[in-house]
Amino acid sequence: MNRIFRFCTAIVLLVLLAKPVSAGEGMWLPIFLKSLNEAEMQRMGLKISAEDIYSVNKGSLKDAIVHFGGFCTSQIISPNGLMLTNHHCGYGQIQSHTSLENNYLRNGFWAANYGEELPNPGLTATLIVRIEDVSEAALMGVKNDMTEKERQSLIDKNLNEVRNTIEKKEYEEIVIRPFFKGNQYFAFVTVVYRDVRLVGAPPESIGKFGADTDNWVWPRHTGDFSFFRIYAGKDNLPADYSEDNVPYQPKHFLPISTDGVEEGDFTMVFGFPGRTNEYLPSYAIDQLVEVVNPARIGVREAALNIMDAAMRKDEQTRIKYASKQARIANYWKKWKGENLGLISTHAIRKKQDFEAEFTKTIQRNPEMKLQYGKLLPEFQRLYAELEPYAHVRAYHSEVMGRNIELMRATGLMGRLANAYKNNGAQGFQGFAERLKPFFSNFYKDYNAELDQKIFASLMQLYQEKVDAQYIPDHLREQLSAAQGSYEQLAKEIYEKTAFAQADKVMAIIDMEPAKAVEAIEKDPAFLLNQHINDLYDTKVESKYNDIQKQLDRLQRHYMAALMAAFPDKPFYPDANSTLRFTYGQVKSYQPRDAVTYLNKTYLSGVMEKYVPGDYEFDVPEKLRQLYESKDYGPYAENGKMPVCFLGSNHTTGGNSGSPAIDAHGNLIGLNFDRVWEGTMSDINYDPSICRNIMVDIRYILFIVDKYADAGHLIKEMKLVQPKKG
Ligand code: ARG
Ligand code: GLU
Repeated sequence: MNRIFRFCTAIVLLVLLAKPVSAGEGMWLPIFLKSLNEAEMQRMGLKISAEDIYSVNKGSLKDAIVHFGGFCTSQIISPNGLMLTNHHCGYGQIQSHTSLENNYLRNGFWAANYGEELPNPGLTATLIVRIEDVSEAALMGVKNDMTEKERQSLIDKNLNEVRNTIEKKEYEEIVIRPFFKGNQYFAFVTVVYRDVRLVGAPPESIGKFGADTDNWVWPRHTGDFSFFRIYAGKDNLPADYSEDNVPYQPKHFLPISTDGVEEGDFTMVFGFPGRTNEYLPSYAIDQLVEVVNPARIGVREAALNIMDAAMRKDEQTRIKYASKQARIANYWKKWKGENLGLISTHAIRKKQDFEAEFTKTIQRNPEMKLQYGKLLPEFQRLYAELEPYAHVRAYHSEVMGRNIELMRATGLMGRLANAYKNNGAQGFQGFAERLKPFFSNFYKDYNAELDQKIFASLMQLYQEKVDAQYIPDHLREQLSAAQGSYEQLAKEIYEKTAFAQADKVMAIIDMEPAKAVEAIEKDPAFLLNQHINDLYDTKVESKYNDIQKQLDRLQRHYMAALMAAFPDKPFYPDANSTLRFTYGQVKSYQPRDAVTYLNKTYLSGVMEKYVPGDYEFDVPEKLRQLYESKDYGPYAENGKMPVCFLGSNHTTGGNSGSPAIDAHGNLIGLNFDRVWEGTMSDINYDPSICRNIMVDIRYILFIVDKYADAGHLIKEMKLVQPKKG
């Protein structure tokens, strides 16, 4: 009896654990769409086939999906290469064209014709031609008892061969990436377009409405979109920027449905999610919540307080720092939400329960027990060993590598000195040539006075938070020479360093190399940077990397173990900036007891949030007028103007600008964010509260047509109404 009972429990547990991932969770590879997802997607309402979504033989949805600059997603929506992405994805470009005279951030920008579209050196648009599973060839000859080094060099050798055998046209490129923690490898044949021009953007008071207060939060009222266009040579192939280039003719572009969305409608999001970590052990999550995230949040908070104050005082500073501030603020807030969510959903306990199930399952199979039985205890040991280093590393990378700009410039000047020492005058010249354009951009958006304040605040934080053994005597001596005042220390360094001013830096770069090295090496910013980093590199970074390598190996075995222990469960690989699709439904949610968030917002909500003249919640006059007169053109829904909607699609950073696509393959919205309660979905997806936020495509059309009078762009697009027939 007891045995039968135990047997039944085991079966029930197995079935529960092996149940397909809840609809919504998963960032799937398009080549497995047919075998893993098509049936479920059609049950959920999809009306087209796997072949319509991803095909190597004919134009399919994937041919309209573009990796935008390598950090966001965009989609092609016209036969002339017109692309839609988020306002915050094009933000750096919009900012770079902005000045006090042409304030495109504040007022928006709309090119009236091709000739007015603005080029963006360095910005790329990447299309995916084909995906191939190359696991077998990549892992040929790899054995379990190899060291990591042996394994990697064999794989590198194999991949070189794979690269040579994959069929590709001359203008195509090949990217090969590890998946499932290195248990599988996939190759992507791509085409990279290099002439991408800015076509249009709304003012920030629409495109960034709600700014940091509303970021990562529902209900949302942001028109987070901008338009770009891909240009190609006359042969429609990639070409460097040239006036003679012509708009790119895509194999497919997305038609746009103006039908609108309802609760339960099928949605699919296609794009390039950056990074997730869904298969971490509980110990890793614990460390993230307790050690790493608090450190990163603390440093950024200190930097942002200073930056925000300076930006609010002065428009020129605001323009200079807009894009930098947005990037820093975005993840500052994301980590806060992530921590809250991981704690409130008991993510660590859930992982522990799952780990207990895993352990029970492998115990039943002697071979698995032998092979995988030590993984979890090893994780525990290594994460404990990693912890003190992870702590310093989080502070160091945020303080020295990110938020004090002078330290970044100094690091580069240090590398210039090294280039001379390692490779002589030629090495120096080569690196100097690369530094010049970088520094001319860097100092264009640099405010030394502001940076000096950040330096004082973050140096103090570093000294206070980081264990004394990692603080160099040099810093202590400098500080006591400054009577223990970080402001004084900052003042002295910023007064004496050459690296806080563009002309002085350029003068050093132009010196005779030996002289330049001399000037660099006696610079007070260089000395401080060097002392902190030398100590850090030897005492922290090398140890951290050592342990992390062992963890990577464990994580690879653990991934393989999970797949072996739960063979019926469909697994999806963690995001790694490659093309994925995810699907779900338009869906409201309950953030907490007795509270329901509806799935859609309207322009009336923009007006509810309106605060005249506010930094985040001002509304342009013309939009207020259009609202008053209900002048919505054909884009309204029962007399109301929809703005954003929610879905249960599993997305992450990099999915910004991804199209939300309906059951027929039409564009219905533009992904740009997730909800506060669900920002932890990179680590622990919870279908009850994880939602992605999209701009309703009708709001975009309305702003383009009625607000910006850019109807010529709408004419390029193909509007459809499949529901209304
Ligand atoms: N949270 C969204 C994303 O991760 C939007 C960010 C826009 N930036 C901002 N600081 N408001 O990219
Ligand atoms: N805003 C994010 C991005 O820039 C997407 C939101 C998310 O992380 O889900 O990619």
